[in-house]
Amino acid sequence: MTQTASPRYRRLLVTGGAGFIGSCFVRDTLVRRDGTEVVVLDKLTYAGNRANLAAVEADPEQASRFTFVTGDIADAAVVGPLVAEVDAVINFAAESHVDRSILDPAAFLRTDVMGVHVLLEACRLERDRAVAGKRSAAPRFLQVSTDEVYGSVETGASREDDRLQPRSPYSAAKAAGELLVQSYFVTYGLDIVVTRGSNTYGPFHHPEKLIPLFITNAIDDLPLPLYGDGLQQRDWLYVSDHAGAIGHVLEHGVAGQVYNVSGQNERTNRQVVTDLLDRLDKPWSLVRLVADRPGHDRRYAMDGSRLVALGWTNKVGFDDGLAATVAWYVENQAWWRAIKSGDWDAYYDRQYGRRLADSREAGR
Ligand code: NAD
Ligand code: TYD
Repeated sequence: MTQTASPRYRRLLVTGGAGFIGSCFVRDTLVRRDGTEVVVLDKLTYAGNRANLAAVEADPEQASRFTFVTGDIADAAVVGPLVAEVDAVINFAAESHVDRSILDPAAFLRTDVMGVHVLLEACRLERDRAVAGKRSAAPRFLQVSTDEVYGSVETGASREDDRLQPRSPYSAAKAAGELLVQSYFVTYGLDIVVTRGSNTYGPFHHPEKLIPLFITNAIDDLPLPLYGDGLQQRDWLYVSDHAGAIGHVLEHGVAGQVYNVSGQNERTNRQVVTDLLDRLDKPWSLVRLVADRPGHDRRYAMDGSRLVALGWTNKVGFDDGLAATVAWYVENQAWWRAIKSGDWDAYYDRQYGRRLADSREAGR
């Protein structure tokens, strides 16, 4: 049984804890067995999955420090009593897929903006209770944001004080959400911190996103729909490093500050696909060039030196991370086959039906 130094925040509300990164944060937090208690609040949208937390629920000691609440962060009646009981709120909950934000932006505004507002109001009430001596301290609020708020970065690397220039409904909603968080620091003195993570990959990643979609399609010898020329660049961050960085900022971040969480692994989409196909021993002929995503950001890149100065460094390089990810999807087919059923076909047809019908070969 592992014991580590006592954490600063012992009772955590983790919103969106049944999703990809949130569930990794919950699993990694509880397995430390340092006494931390976690309440997950999750709406269980198409992207939320209790199976992502099965390891926690199957372990009696971890399960005794874990509570799951099904509910919406935009519902003040649900949020208020939960925030009243914790030392910190870590907000992972979001609609998170750019392509879905292009098909249907309204859900993004509700969760990624209004939901954040509801959480902040609950924290403000608790801050008032702390001032009145009704609790020992106000809760800390950590907003999980994204490099996408900087917009497309053709050259160089974004720093935390750069202008935000989001270009998709998803990134615009995330920018609005985090600006609201920052305004509650300035206006009400709330104890807030913000992380801006880069493209994350690893086990339990919903198969709508590039890496898991292409791994699972390749396993089934289905076409891999590569947008545009496939030369867009992303900076890939392994999921446990992203979750670890968030935990580090929660513990050590300076109130009011924003921290970039960079992966230091820039790749074009073509490079990623080539690597995946090699690892799966599948042919390049599966790759199809399809109509580009509207407003597709060409490149994301961040300077991560502020977080390094705070004492955090990533542990997993891209080769090891991708090997572990491919192996996980090969070994956990029941997990993703359950997701790629039911409503999946309707989404896939809407997003890719016409694109694949009009697709062309992708010369290597
Ligand atoms: P995800 O889509 O896998 O999970 C989101 C979770 O939030 C799901 O469990 C879903 O059920 C839940 N949720 C959605 N709306 C909700 C609501 N109104 N109330 C309560 N729960 C709700 O997303 P992810 O990839 O794990 O991303 C987590 C966070 O990290 C998001 O805020 C996202 O913007 C941010 N982020 C993601 C990446 C990435 O590459 N995946 C990179 C940087 C930042
Ligand atoms: P994605 O995983 O959706 O993350 P994000 O849009 O947040 O960066 O996409 C990563 C890159 O892969 C992005 O440049 C879009 C591209 N992409 C494809 O080419 N085909 C696909 O089917 C998907 C889902 C993404």
